[in-house]
Amino acid sequence: MNTDFKFLKVEVENNICLLTINREDKLNALNSDVIDELRVFLEEAAKEKLSGIILTGAGQKAFIAGADIAQMTEMKSDEAREFAYKGQQVTLMFEESRTPVIAAVNGFALGGGLEMALACDFILCSENAKFSLPEVSLGLIPGFGGTQRLAKIVGRNRAKELLYTGRMIKSSEAKDIGLVLEVLNTKEELIKKAKEIVSMMQKNSPLAIGIAKFVVNRGVDLTTCEGLEFEKNHFGQIFDSEDMKEGTAAFIEKRKANFKGE
Ligand code: COA
Repeated sequence: MNTDFKFLKVEVENNICLLTINREDKLNALNSDVIDELRVFLEEAAKEKLSGIILTGAGQKAFIAGADIAQMTEMKSDEAREFAYKGQQVTLMFEESRTPVIAAVNGFALGGGLEMALACDFILCSENAKFSLPEVSLGLIPGFGGTQRLAKIVGRNRAKELLYTGRMIKSSEAKDIGLVLEVLNTKEELIKKAKEIVSMMQKNSPLAIGIAKFVVNRGVDLTTCEGLEFEKNHFGQIFDSEDMKEGTAAFIEKRKANFKGE
């Protein structure tokens, strides 16, 4: 995989990819170059059989402090629409990727930074993490999916309160409202925990995990009956896979399954 990026650091070890937004002097703010690199990274990652991607930010202070405000001040309406479209495409690529993606939030996750995290499968954070969608304080609204995904995760009422006030919340409150799965003491512990979770996934069928992710993500927008139909069809489809044959045979033969993701 190409690891030659200006604003991204890509480290793959044991098939687990640590993807770091590497623009520490600007608190890892997302300008259009960073967004473009994320898209290229995700296109390439889709060709690899990664067990998981861990998204984090360089340094101790920020995960991502939002979309690049300096760049936005120069944009006209059609350029802003295009910028939002590009950012949204990246969030969709995280969401549609069959590889699990964990946001490891260290420090500030603001605006577009929180929106990237919301598109991941779940969020772990360090104690010093702070979350906010402060766009209205800049006379803006979120443009990378924040108005849509936050409400689905924390509920419409809390999402609106956070959106309208732009209030910054600490890690403990983020956990209380279900935005964050777990809070770790330090960034080092955070990355270690994210890697441990992916290691646990590595015992399972990557094909089944990818399909489970797809069915959960798509199911959110369906009625229960439509969702059950969708689940049933994928449940049936997976019986044609080698992984299903291997997993069930391994159970009967009392041995460890050797999954190939096929
Ligand atoms: N866009 C562009 N640059 C940003 C940025 C953003 N979203 N967030 C931080 N930066 C830059 C600062 O301009 C500064 O650059 P400089 O050193 O060239 O002046 C650098 O990152 C460090 O930030 P600074 O503000 O000096 O750090 P701080 O510790 O005083 O404050 C924050 C940290 C996160 C509270 C503050 O940077 C901030 O409010 N950022 C904007 C958050 C935001 O509104 N995001 C949503 C955008 S839609």
